[in-house]
Amino acid sequence: MAEVLNIVDDASREDQYKNLIPQIKGLLSGESDMIANMANVSAVLKQAFDFLWVGFYLIKDNQLVLAPFQGKIACTRINYGKGVCGTAWEQNETLVVDDVDSFDGHIACDGDSRSEIVVPVHHNGSIIGVLDIDSQYLKHFTETDKKYLEEIVSVLSQSIS
Ligand code: SME
Repeated sequence: MAEVLNIVDDASREDQYKNLIPQIKGLLSGESDMIANMANVSAVLKQAFDFLWVGFYLIKDNQLVLAPFQGKIACTRINYGKGVCGTAWEQNETLVVDDVDSFDGHIACDGDSRSEIVVPVHHNGSIIGVLDIDSQYLKHFTETDKKYLEEIVSVLSQSIS
């Protein structure tokens, strides 16, 4: 297991993802526990990027329930179809929100959040939760984030038992 995360100073977002993905594969290899691997993926993304909040919600009893995360305390339960997370679950696709104030029904866990990306997590063909990332900056997430975060979530999904 890699003990130290190698973060490239001043790299573009894309180059940083390209640098991180092999390290994430190394970090998750040999560990199949979902919570442990979600915890480390949250930590890698929080450590490497200037994101406000990075974390997972897992589907339990038809709600999204807070799971491993990095950042300030957050809401623990989100209903299907509610907020950005519940909408990404309902639509079963990645949502990029440039301005959370213009997203009808956005759930403000942290008043500093300005933009958000939510990526569904699948396992054995079904959605099991979401990866949620908030930024304190407007329009902070692009197609580049969508592409690489979906790849990272796929690596995570393949690692878990
Ligand atoms: N903003 C999310 C709620 C979760 S927090 O951002 C951590 C939403 O609208 O679903």
